[in-house]
Amino acid sequence: MTEATKKAATAASRGEASYRADPHPVYACLRESAPVCRLSPPHGVETYLITRYDDAKAALTDPRISKDMYAALDAYHTIFGDSSVALDDNMLFSDPPKHTRLRRIVNSAFSPRRIESLRPRIQQITDELLQRCSTSTPIDLLPSFAFPLPLIVICELIGIPEEERDEAQKQCATVARTGFSKADKEKLAVAEGALRDYFVELIARKRRNATDDLLSDLIRTQDEQGAMNDGELLSTLWVLLFAGHKTTAYLIGNAVYNLLTHRDQLRDVMADPELLPNAIEEIIRYEGSVENATFRHALEDITIRDTVIPKGSLVQVAVASANRDPEKFESPDTFDIRRQGLQSAHLGFGSGPHYCLGAPLARMEMRIALTTLFERFPNIEPAAPAEETAWLKVPFPAFRGLERLPVV
Ligand code: HEM
Repeated sequence: MTEATKKAATAASRGEASYRADPHPVYACLRESAPVCRLSPPHGVETYLITRYDDAKAALTDPRISKDMYAALDAYHTIFGDSSVALDDNMLFSDPPKHTRLRRIVNSAFSPRRIESLRPRIQQITDELLQRCSTSTPIDLLPSFAFPLPLIVICELIGIPEEERDEAQKQCATVARTGFSKADKEKLAVAEGALRDYFVELIARKRRNATDDLLSDLIRTQDEQGAMNDGELLSTLWVLLFAGHKTTAYLIGNAVYNLLTHRDQLRDVMADPELLPNAIEEIIRYEGSVENATFRHALEDITIRDTVIPKGSLVQVAVASANRDPEKFESPDTFDIRRQGLQSAHLGFGSGPHYCLGAPLARMEMRIALTTLFERFPNIEPAAPAEETAWLKVPFPAFRGLERLPVV
Protein backbone atom coordinates (compact mmCIF):
# COMPACT_ATOMS: atom_id res chain seq x y z
CA MET A 1 0.00 0.00 0.00
CA THR A 2 1.46 3.39 -0.95
CA GLU A 3 1.65 6.28 1.51
CA ALA A 4 -1.14 8.07 -0.38
CA THR A 5 -3.41 5.03 -0.15
CA LYS A 6 -2.67 4.62 3.56
CA LYS A 7 -3.53 8.28 4.11
CA ALA A 8 -6.77 7.90 2.15
CA ALA A 9 -7.76 4.79 4.12
CA THR A 10 -7.05 6.59 7.41
CA ALA A 11 -9.06 9.64 6.36
CA ALA A 12 -12.02 7.43 5.43
CA SER A 13 -11.74 5.36 8.63
CA ARG A 14 -11.72 8.37 10.92
CA GLY A 15 -13.93 10.71 8.93
CA GLU A 16 -11.21 13.42 9.02
CA ALA A 17 -12.26 17.05 8.50
CA SER A 18 -10.72 17.45 5.02
CA TYR A 19 -12.38 14.23 3.95
CA ARG A 20 -15.76 15.39 5.27
CA ALA A 21 -15.34 18.64 3.36
CA ASP A 22 -14.67 16.75 0.13
CA PRO A 23 -14.48 12.94 0.20
CA HIS A 24 -14.01 12.59 -3.55
CA PRO A 25 -10.19 12.81 -3.78
CA VAL A 26 -10.05 10.06 -1.12
CA TYR A 27 -12.49 7.91 -3.06
CA ALA A 28 -10.59 8.51 -6.32
CA CYS A 29 -7.40 7.29 -4.65
CA LEU A 30 -9.08 4.21 -3.16
CA ARG A 31 -10.84 3.28 -6.43
CA GLU A 32 -7.46 3.36 -8.13
CA SER A 33 -5.22 1.63 -5.60
CA ALA A 34 -7.40 -0.13 -2.98
CA PRO A 35 -10.90 -0.65 -4.40
CA VAL A 36 -11.76 -3.08 -1.62
CA CYS A 37 -10.13 -1.33 1.30
CA ARG A 38 -9.75 -2.54 4.88
CA LEU A 39 -10.61 0.35 7.19
CA SER A 40 -9.76 0.90 10.86
CA PRO A 41 -12.90 2.60 12.14
CA PRO A 42 -13.20 3.80 15.74
CA HIS A 43 -15.74 1.09 16.63
CA GLY A 44 -13.03 -1.53 16.07
CA VAL A 45 -15.08 -3.99 13.98
CA GLU A 46 -13.21 -5.33 10.93
CA THR A 47 -14.63 -3.24 8.06
CA TYR A 48 -14.14 -3.21 4.27
CA LEU A 49 -15.09 -0.29 2.02
CA ILE A 50 -16.04 -0.96 -1.62
CA THR A 51 -15.51 2.02 -3.91
CA ARG A 52 -15.75 0.93 -7.59
CA TYR A 53 -19.07 0.97 -9.43
CA ASP A 54 -19.11 -2.63 -10.69
CA ASP A 55 -18.05 -4.06 -7.33
CA ALA A 56 -20.56 -1.83 -5.52
CA LYS A 57 -23.46 -2.90 -7.68
CA ALA A 58 -22.50 -6.58 -7.34
CA ALA A 59 -22.08 -6.30 -3.55
CA LEU A 60 -25.51 -4.68 -3.09
CA THR A 61 -27.14 -7.77 -4.64
CA ASP A 62 -24.74 -10.50 -3.46
CA PRO A 63 -26.60 -12.93 -1.15
CA ARG A 64 -23.28 -13.76 0.57
CA ILE A 65 -23.13 -10.15 1.74
CA SER A 66 -25.96 -10.06 4.22
CA LYS A 67 -28.12 -7.30 5.67
CA ASP A 68 -29.46 -9.60 8.40
CA MET A 69 -28.13 -8.09 11.61
CA TYR A 70 -29.08 -11.22 13.59
CA ALA A 71 -26.44 -13.10 11.60
CA ALA A 72 -23.72 -10.81 13.03
CA LEU A 73 -25.36 -9.58 16.19
CA ASP A 74 -22.17 -9.07 18.21
CA ALA A 75 -20.72 -6.76 15.56
CA TYR A 76 -23.92 -4.70 15.38
CA HIS A 77 -24.05 -4.48 19.18
CA THR A 78 -20.47 -3.22 19.20
CA ILE A 79 -21.04 -0.62 16.50
CA PHE A 80 -24.49 0.68 17.23
CA GLY A 81 -25.23 -0.41 20.82
CA ASP A 82 -28.13 -2.40 22.30
CA SER A 83 -30.76 0.28 21.91
CA SER A 84 -30.14 0.68 18.15
CA VAL A 85 -30.22 -3.03 17.55
CA ALA A 86 -33.60 -3.19 19.28
CA LEU A 87 -34.95 -0.57 16.84
CA ASP A 88 -33.51 -2.21 13.74
CA ASP A 89 -35.63 -5.35 13.50
CA ASN A 90 -36.98 -4.16 10.14
CA MET A 91 -36.63 -4.73 6.39
CA LEU A 92 -33.45 -2.66 6.13
CA PHE A 93 -31.61 -5.09 8.42
CA SER A 94 -32.95 -8.41 7.16
CA ASP A 95 -32.53 -10.87 4.29
CA PRO A 96 -35.17 -12.83 2.36
CA PRO A 97 -37.56 -14.39 3.23
CA LYS A 98 -38.05 -12.10 6.24
CA HIS A 99 -37.10 -9.06 4.15
CA THR A 100 -39.63 -10.00 1.45
CA ARG A 101 -42.40 -10.42 4.03
CA LEU A 102 -41.72 -7.12 5.81
CA ARG A 103 -41.25 -5.09 2.66
CA ARG A 104 -44.38 -6.49 0.99
CA ILE A 105 -46.57 -5.27 3.86
CA VAL A 106 -45.63 -1.60 3.35
CA ASN A 107 -44.86 -1.71 -0.36
CA SER A 108 -48.29 -0.69 -1.62
CA ALA A 109 -48.21 2.50 0.49
CA PHE A 110 -45.18 3.63 -1.54
CA SER A 111 -46.25 2.69 -5.07
CA PRO A 112 -45.85 5.50 -7.62
CA ARG A 113 -49.68 5.75 -7.88
CA ARG A 114 -50.22 6.12 -4.12
CA ILE A 115 -47.40 8.63 -3.95
CA GLU A 116 -48.87 10.61 -6.86
CA SER A 117 -52.06 11.01 -4.79
CA LEU A 118 -50.02 12.89 -2.16
CA ARG A 119 -48.97 15.58 -4.65
CA PRO A 120 -51.55 18.27 -3.72
CA ARG A 121 -50.82 17.94 0.00
CA ILE A 122 -47.03 18.04 -0.53
CA GLN A 123 -47.49 21.18 -2.65
CA GLN A 124 -49.61 22.76 0.08
CA ILE A 125 -47.03 22.02 2.80
CA THR A 126 -44.27 23.41 0.56
CA ASP A 127 -46.25 26.61 -0.10
CA GLU A 128 -46.95 27.11 3.59
CA LEU A 129 -43.31 26.64 4.59
CA LEU A 130 -42.03 29.01 1.92
CA GLN A 131 -44.63 31.64 2.77
CA ARG A 132 -43.07 31.84 6.20
CA CYS A 133 -39.58 32.44 4.77
CA SER A 134 -38.73 36.12 4.93
CA THR A 135 -37.27 37.71 1.81
CA SER A 136 -35.44 40.52 3.58
CA THR A 137 -33.12 38.76 6.02
CA PRO A 138 -30.86 35.75 5.46
CA ILE A 139 -32.36 32.44 6.55
CA ASP A 140 -30.94 29.00 7.03
CA LEU A 141 -32.80 26.91 4.49
CA LEU A 142 -32.22 23.63 6.33
CA PRO A 143 -34.28 24.22 9.51
CA SER A 144 -36.77 26.50 7.79
CA PHE A 145 -37.52 24.36 4.73
CA ALA A 146 -35.39 21.30 3.85
CA PHE A 147 -36.05 19.47 7.15
CA PRO A 148 -39.66 20.36 7.93
CA LEU A 149 -40.97 19.43 4.46
CA PRO A 150 -40.07 15.71 4.40
CA LEU A 151 -40.63 15.45 8.15
CA ILE A 152 -44.22 16.71 7.92
CA VAL A 153 -44.88 14.50 4.88
CA ILE A 154 -43.61 11.26 6.47
CA CYS A 155 -45.27 12.04 9.82
CA GLU A 156 -48.63 12.63 8.12
CA LEU A 157 -48.20 9.44 6.12
CA ILE A 158 -47.38 7.38 9.21
CA GLY A 159 -49.94 9.14 11.43
CA ILE A 160 -47.71 11.00 13.91
CA PRO A 161 -49.78 13.94 15.24
CA GLU A 162 -48.52 17.45 14.57
CA GLU A 163 -47.81 18.36 18.19
CA GLU A 164 -45.59 15.28 18.64
CA ARG A 165 -43.37 15.78 15.58
CA ASP A 166 -40.77 18.14 17.00
CA GLU A 167 -39.90 15.75 19.79
CA ALA A 168 -39.63 12.79 17.39
CA GLN A 169 -37.42 14.86 15.09
CA LYS A 170 -35.18 15.91 17.99
CA GLN A 171 -34.52 12.29 18.96
CA CYS A 172 -33.85 11.35 15.31
CA ALA A 173 -31.31 14.19 15.07
CA THR A 174 -29.51 12.90 18.19
CA VAL A 175 -29.41 9.39 16.76
CA ALA A 176 -27.94 10.63 13.47
CA ARG A 177 -25.15 12.54 15.14
CA THR A 178 -23.78 10.32 17.90
CA GLY A 179 -20.34 8.78 17.74
CA PHE A 180 -18.64 5.86 19.45
CA SER A 181 -17.45 7.26 22.79
CA LYS A 182 -19.07 6.02 26.01
CA ALA A 183 -20.80 9.38 26.49
CA ASP A 184 -22.06 9.31 22.88
CA LYS A 185 -23.46 5.84 23.31
CA GLU A 186 -25.25 6.87 26.50
CA LYS A 187 -26.82 9.82 24.69
CA LEU A 188 -27.82 7.52 21.87
CA ALA A 189 -29.45 5.04 24.26
CA VAL A 190 -31.51 7.84 25.87
CA ALA A 191 -32.75 9.13 22.49
CA GLU A 192 -33.55 5.66 21.20
CA GLY A 193 -35.25 4.71 24.47
CA ALA A 194 -37.44 7.81 24.20
CA LEU A 195 -38.34 6.92 20.61
CA ARG A 196 -39.21 3.34 21.57
CA ASP A 197 -41.41 4.49 24.45
CA TYR A 198 -43.10 6.97 22.15
CA PHE A 199 -43.78 4.38 19.43
CA VAL A 200 -45.13 1.84 21.96
CA GLU A 201 -47.55 4.46 23.27
CA LEU A 202 -48.52 5.63 19.75
CA ILE A 203 -49.21 2.06 18.60
CA ALA A 204 -51.41 1.46 21.67
CA ARG A 205 -53.29 4.69 21.01
CA LYS A 206 -53.92 3.81 17.33
CA ARG A 207 -54.97 0.32 18.33
CA ARG A 208 -57.69 1.91 20.49
CA ASN A 209 -58.60 4.60 17.92
CA ALA A 210 -57.65 3.78 14.35
CA THR A 211 -57.29 6.75 12.01
CA ASP A 212 -56.69 7.08 8.28
CA ASP A 213 -52.92 6.54 8.11
CA LEU A 214 -50.22 3.97 7.44
CA LEU A 215 -49.76 2.97 11.08
CA SER A 216 -53.47 2.20 11.50
CA ASP A 217 -53.31 0.14 8.28
CA LEU A 218 -50.28 -1.76 9.57
CA ILE A 219 -52.03 -2.51 12.86
CA ARG A 220 -55.09 -3.81 10.98
CA THR A 221 -52.89 -6.04 8.81
CA GLN A 222 -51.05 -7.23 11.91
CA ASP A 223 -54.28 -8.10 13.72
CA GLU A 224 -55.86 -9.78 10.69
CA GLN A 225 -52.93 -11.80 9.39
CA GLY A 226 -50.32 -11.77 12.14
CA ALA A 227 -48.04 -10.48 9.42
CA MET A 228 -45.69 -8.50 11.66
CA ASN A 229 -44.84 -9.01 15.30
CA ASP A 230 -44.83 -6.06 17.72
CA GLY A 231 -41.06 -5.53 17.57
CA GLU A 232 -41.11 -5.53 13.76
CA LEU A 233 -43.99 -3.08 13.68
CA LEU A 234 -42.19 -0.66 15.97
CA SER A 235 -38.94 -1.01 14.02
CA THR A 236 -40.75 -0.45 10.74
CA LEU A 237 -42.10 2.85 12.08
CA TRP A 238 -38.58 3.80 13.04
CA VAL A 239 -37.02 3.04 9.64
CA LEU A 240 -39.80 4.89 7.81
CA LEU A 241 -39.52 7.94 10.05
CA PHE A 242 -35.72 8.10 9.95
CA ALA A 243 -35.06 7.09 6.33
CA GLY A 244 -38.10 9.03 5.23
CA HIS A 245 -36.94 12.46 6.31
CA LYS A 246 -33.17 12.70 6.94
CA THR A 247 -32.11 11.53 3.49
CA THR A 248 -34.60 13.73 1.66
CA ALA A 249 -33.84 16.78 3.82
CA TYR A 250 -30.11 16.48 3.16
CA LEU A 251 -30.77 15.96 -0.53
CA ILE A 252 -32.88 19.13 -0.76
CA GLY A 253 -29.95 21.00 0.83
CA ASN A 254 -27.41 19.39 -1.53
CA ALA A 255 -29.62 20.17 -4.52
CA VAL A 256 -30.11 23.84 -3.66
CA TYR A 257 -26.41 24.25 -2.90
CA ASN A 258 -25.28 22.64 -6.15
CA LEU A 259 -27.79 24.51 -8.29
CA LEU A 260 -26.83 27.83 -6.67
CA THR A 261 -23.17 27.09 -7.35
CA HIS A 262 -23.95 26.09 -10.98
CA ARG A 263 -26.09 29.11 -11.74
CA ASP A 264 -26.11 28.62 -15.52
CA GLN A 265 -27.66 25.17 -15.11
CA LEU A 266 -30.17 26.54 -12.58
CA ARG A 267 -31.20 29.11 -15.19
CA ASP A 268 -31.67 26.30 -17.73
CA VAL A 269 -33.88 24.32 -15.34
CA MET A 270 -35.98 27.37 -14.57
CA ALA A 271 -36.42 28.11 -18.27
CA ASP A 272 -37.31 24.49 -19.06
CA PRO A 273 -38.90 22.59 -16.14
CA GLU A 274 -38.75 19.37 -18.16
CA LEU A 275 -35.05 19.29 -17.32
CA LEU A 276 -35.79 19.01 -13.60
CA PRO A 277 -36.33 15.23 -13.24
CA ASN A 278 -32.96 14.56 -14.86
CA ALA A 279 -31.33 17.34 -12.84
CA ILE A 280 -32.53 15.59 -9.67
CA GLU A 281 -31.01 12.28 -10.79
CA GLU A 282 -27.74 14.09 -11.50
CA ILE A 283 -27.80 15.65 -8.03
CA ILE A 284 -28.30 12.20 -6.50
CA ARG A 285 -25.36 10.91 -8.54
CA TYR A 286 -23.06 13.87 -7.99
CA GLU A 287 -23.88 14.70 -4.37
CA GLY A 288 -26.41 12.17 -3.05
CA SER A 289 -27.34 12.19 0.62
CA VAL A 290 -26.41 8.56 1.30
CA GLU A 291 -22.64 8.30 1.14
CA ASN A 292 -22.05 4.76 2.39
CA ALA A 293 -24.78 4.03 4.94
CA THR A 294 -25.23 0.61 3.38
CA PHE A 295 -24.12 -1.64 6.23
CA ARG A 296 -23.76 -5.30 5.41
CA HIS A 297 -21.55 -8.17 6.51
CA ALA A 298 -19.87 -11.17 4.91
CA LEU A 299 -21.55 -14.53 5.60
CA GLU A 300 -18.43 -16.35 4.36
CA ASP A 301 -14.92 -15.45 3.17
CA ILE A 302 -15.50 -13.47 -0.03
CA THR A 303 -12.84 -12.55 -2.59
CA ILE A 304 -13.39 -9.35 -4.56
CA ARG A 305 -10.56 -8.52 -6.93
CA ASP A 306 -7.50 -9.65 -4.93
CA THR A 307 -8.87 -8.93 -1.49
CA VAL A 308 -10.40 -11.52 0.80
CA ILE A 309 -13.14 -10.10 3.00
CA PRO A 310 -13.14 -12.48 5.97
CA LYS A 311 -16.42 -13.98 7.16
CA GLY A 312 -18.14 -11.75 9.72
CA SER A 313 -16.52 -8.49 8.51
CA LEU A 314 -18.62 -5.41 8.07
CA VAL A 315 -18.98 -4.31 4.43
CA GLN A 316 -19.78 -0.72 3.48
CA VAL A 317 -20.60 0.05 -0.12
CA ALA A 318 -19.58 3.63 -0.91
CA VAL A 319 -22.36 4.55 -3.32
CA ALA A 320 -21.02 8.12 -3.41
CA SER A 321 -17.77 6.77 -4.81
CA ALA A 322 -19.42 4.34 -7.24
CA ASN A 323 -21.41 7.28 -8.60
CA ARG A 324 -18.15 9.09 -9.47
CA ASP A 325 -16.39 6.08 -11.01
CA PRO A 326 -14.89 7.18 -14.36
CA GLU A 327 -15.25 3.59 -15.65
CA LYS A 328 -19.02 4.11 -15.48
CA PHE A 329 -19.63 7.86 -15.83
CA GLU A 330 -17.81 10.11 -18.28
CA SER A 331 -16.20 13.15 -16.59
CA PRO A 332 -17.75 12.03 -13.29
CA ASP A 333 -16.65 15.12 -11.34
CA THR A 334 -18.58 17.40 -13.69
CA PHE A 335 -22.11 18.36 -12.63
CA ASP A 336 -24.23 18.07 -15.77
CA ILE A 337 -28.02 18.12 -15.54
CA ARG A 338 -28.28 16.86 -19.14
CA ARG A 339 -26.26 13.67 -18.50
CA GLN A 340 -28.06 10.71 -20.09
CA GLY A 341 -29.12 7.31 -18.73
CA LEU A 342 -28.88 8.27 -15.08
CA GLN A 343 -31.99 6.92 -13.42
CA SER A 344 -31.15 3.27 -14.01
CA ALA A 345 -27.41 3.78 -13.55
CA HIS A 346 -26.65 5.74 -10.37
CA LEU A 347 -26.63 3.88 -7.07
CA GLY A 348 -27.87 6.78 -4.94
CA PHE A 349 -31.02 4.82 -4.00
CA GLY A 350 -29.09 1.55 -3.70
CA SER A 351 -29.72 -1.49 -5.90
CA GLY A 352 -31.30 -4.94 -5.69
CA PRO A 353 -33.77 -6.12 -3.04
CA HIS A 354 -33.02 -3.22 -0.69
CA TYR A 355 -33.47 -0.57 -3.40
CA CYS A 356 -34.96 2.45 -1.65
CA LEU A 357 -38.62 1.91 -0.85
CA GLY A 358 -39.20 5.66 -0.68
CA ALA A 359 -37.59 6.62 -4.01
CA PRO A 360 -40.90 7.66 -5.69
CA LEU A 361 -41.78 9.79 -2.64
CA ALA A 362 -38.31 11.34 -2.46
CA ARG A 363 -38.39 12.20 -6.18
CA MET A 364 -41.81 13.81 -5.88
CA GLU A 365 -40.80 15.85 -2.82
CA MET A 366 -37.63 17.00 -4.59
CA ARG A 367 -39.53 18.13 -7.69
CA ILE A 368 -42.12 20.09 -5.75
CA ALA A 369 -39.57 21.57 -3.33
CA LEU A 370 -37.15 22.78 -6.02
CA THR A 371 -39.75 24.06 -8.48
CA THR A 372 -41.62 26.00 -5.83
CA LEU A 373 -38.52 27.40 -4.14
CA PHE A 374 -36.93 28.72 -7.33
CA GLU A 375 -40.19 30.02 -8.77
CA ARG A 376 -40.99 31.89 -5.61
CA PHE A 377 -37.45 33.17 -5.02
CA PRO A 378 -35.75 33.38 -8.44
CA ASN A 379 -33.01 35.62 -7.07
CA ILE A 380 -32.10 33.40 -4.14
CA GLU A 381 -28.36 33.44 -3.39
CA PRO A 382 -26.03 31.93 -0.82
CA ALA A 383 -25.76 34.37 2.10
CA ALA A 384 -22.42 33.12 3.38
CA PRO A 385 -19.08 32.21 1.85
CA ALA A 386 -18.81 28.55 0.84
CA GLU A 387 -16.57 27.65 3.79
CA GLU A 388 -19.36 28.61 6.22
CA THR A 389 -21.72 26.22 4.51
CA ALA A 390 -20.14 23.31 6.38
CA TRP A 391 -20.63 19.69 5.43
CA LEU A 392 -21.97 17.46 8.16
CA LYS A 393 -19.60 16.25 10.80
CA VAL A 394 -20.92 12.79 11.47
CA PRO A 395 -18.95 10.06 13.25
CA PHE A 396 -18.58 8.02 10.14
CA PRO A 397 -19.21 8.94 6.55
CA ALA A 398 -22.67 7.44 6.31
CA PHE A 399 -24.63 10.45 5.08
CA ARG A 400 -23.64 13.51 3.07
CA GLY A 401 -25.41 16.77 3.79
CA LEU A 402 -24.92 20.32 4.99
CA GLU A 403 -24.84 21.62 8.57
CA ARG A 404 -26.48 24.85 7.41
CA LEU A 405 -27.37 26.62 4.20
CA PRO A 406 -27.76 30.39 4.74
CA VAL A 407 -29.48 32.05 1.78
CA VAL A 408 -30.92 35.45 1.02
C1 HEM B 1 -33.33 2.05 1.47
C2 HEM B 1 -31.43 6.18 -0.17
C3 HEM B 1 -35.57 8.53 0.79
C4 HEM B 1 -37.23 4.56 2.94
C5 HEM B 1 -32.49 2.96 0.90
C6 HEM B 1 -31.17 2.65 0.40
C7 HEM B 1 -30.63 3.81 -0.05
C8 HEM B 1 -31.60 4.86 0.16
C9 HEM B 1 -29.25 4.00 -0.64
C10 HEM B 1 -30.52 1.26 0.34
C11 HEM B 1 -29.73 0.96 1.57
C12 HEM B 1 -28.99 -0.34 1.48
O1 HEM B 1 -29.04 -1.06 0.47
O2 HEM B 1 -28.31 -0.67 2.47
C13 HEM B 1 -32.38 7.16 -0.03
C14 HEM B 1 -32.22 8.54 -0.46
C15 HEM B 1 -33.39 9.17 -0.20
C16 HEM B 1 -34.29 8.22 0.41
C17 HEM B 1 -30.96 9.11 -1.09
C18 HEM B 1 -33.80 10.61 -0.43
C19 HEM B 1 -33.39 11.33 -1.32
C20 HEM B 1 -36.40 7.65 1.41
C21 HEM B 1 -37.75 7.94 1.80
C22 HEM B 1 -38.21 6.84 2.41
C23 HEM B 1 -37.17 5.82 2.40
C24 HEM B 1 -38.49 9.27 1.56
C25 HEM B 1 -39.62 6.76 2.93
C26 HEM B 1 -40.25 6.19 3.55
C27 HEM B 1 -36.31 3.55 2.73
C28 HEM B 1 -36.46 2.19 3.25
C29 HEM B 1 -35.34 1.48 2.81
C30 HEM B 1 -34.52 2.40 2.05
C31 HEM B 1 -37.61 1.68 4.09
C32 HEM B 1 -35.04 0.02 3.09
C33 HEM B 1 -35.57 -0.80 1.95
C34 HEM B 1 -35.29 -2.27 2.15
O3 HEM B 1 -34.48 -2.65 3.00
O4 HEM B 1 -35.89 -3.06 1.42
N1 HEM B 1 -32.74 4.30 0.74
N2 HEM B 1 -33.64 7.02 0.51
N3 HEM B 1 -36.08 6.35 1.78
N4 HEM B 1 -35.14 3.64 2.01
FE1 HEM B 1 -34.45 5.30 1.16
